[in-house]
Parts: sequence; C-alpha cells; structure tokens
Amino acid sequence: NRVVIEEFLTGREVSVLAFTDGRTVRPMVASQDHKRAFDHDEGLNTGGMGTFAPSRFYTPALAERCMKEVFQPTVAAMNAEGRPFKGVLYFGLMIDGEKVRVLEYNARFGDPETQVVLPLLKSDLLDIFQSCIDGTLEDQPVEWEEGACVCVILASGGYPVRYEKGKPITIGRMDEGIRLYHAGTKRTADGQLVTDGGRVLGVTAKGRDLEEARAKAYANVEKIHFDGMFFRHDIGFKL
Ligand code: GLY
Repeated sequence: NRVVIEEFLTGREVSVLAFTDGRTVRPMVASQDHKRAFDHDEGLNTGGMGTFAPSRFYTPALAERCMKEVFQPTVAAMNAEGRPFKGVLYFGLMIDGEKVRVLEYNARFGDPETQVVLPLLKSDLLDIFQSCIDGTLEDQPVEWEEGACVCVILASGGYPVRYEKGKPITIGRMDEGIRLYHAGTKRTADGQLVTDGGRVLGVTAKGRDLEEARAKAYANVEKIHFDGMFFRHDIGFKL
C-alpha cells in the first residue's frame, strides 16, 4: 500500500566507527569496506569481502564536517529523545564530492571494519570502554598508529547465496604479525578445522602503508586453502 522512493546514492562508502559516552564522540580511524562479492565491485552485495584503514579518501576536512553535521547531531538527537547512548556507533557514510549521506547506523562495531581498525589503536581499549561507561571520554586518550591495515576475507564458494559448510581448511605457517580472524569456522569432534559459514576467515596485516599491508595480507592468503574458497584480489586498490 505504500511505496518508498529513495534517492539513488553514488560515491565512496566510508565506515566510521566511534566511541561515545553519550556526550563526547571519538571517531576511530575511518575504514572502507568492499561489499560486492567479486573483483571490481561485481556480483552481489555481501556482509563485506575485505577492508582497509585508514581511508585516504576521508580527509581531515571531511572528518571535521562529519563530526559537526553527523556524529554530534546523532548523539544529541538520541539524548533529546531520552535515549542516551554509550558505546560504539557505526556510521556508514556515502560521500560524493560535497554530499555526505548516512547510509546506515549500527550500535556496534563493524565486520570486517573492526579487523582493520582495532589493530591500529595504540591506547588501551579497556580504558576507553571504562571512560564511555563513566562519562569521561573527553579526558581519555584515544591514539592511533601511523600505519595501515588490510583484511582480506576468504569466503565459501556460492556465498552470499548458497554455500556448503564442513570443508576442511588447511592453514600454512602465517608470517609474523598476521592476524587470522575466524568468522565461520569450527572444529569437528576429531579436531579438524572446517568451514562453518559464508565468510570463513579474515587475513589481516599491518604495514607502514597500505601497499605494504596489502602485500603482506595477500602473501598469507596464498597459504590457506579449502574447497570452493574465493576472495577478492583488489582489496585496498580502489581508494
Ligand atoms: N561491514 C558492514 C557491517 O558491519 O555492517
């Protein structure tokens, strides 16, 4: 009975996660997710096939504008509605030149954004959480490393539509510093690691810059195998 017509948004999608104690908002480094299943943004939308941080596209000027036009007003509006919020807010932004639009909000970290954001956090996460609870975020250091981080998702053949689970996974020796996030895996009764979801593993590497992080992540992707495994080859190439 009701038709909703929405503006078709084009531009660059940037995810900004932010800590808040209900008053102060402290954004984390901005990241970019790759939502389509295949290289060059082809195929269906997924939960995310890979991420990188920081986003070079998200300039300090843009960050300042988003703080004024999006982040602070969001927290203020929740307070005005009598729904003060403490924790992590996820701002899914679409940025097209001068236009900044909010595509989605989540009251949580992002996946796979968190995989590339938290490794760059220098400050103690527990202290930050505590300051969100205590309402003292304004005085809490939230510092970030200079480098970059890349996460490549290894997915099950057929994801995001139909895929089989239970494929044995083999993992070679990961290089020093690689973080391998298990998203859809499990161990069988006899101890075999097998696939148990669409997005199976997130191979995550830090580097001095995006190029180094990307090279390290992809070098380690090569050491993992399961039947039907696929991944995007262009994570972090389109900035
Ligand atoms: N990467 C999208 C999300 O966490 O919602």
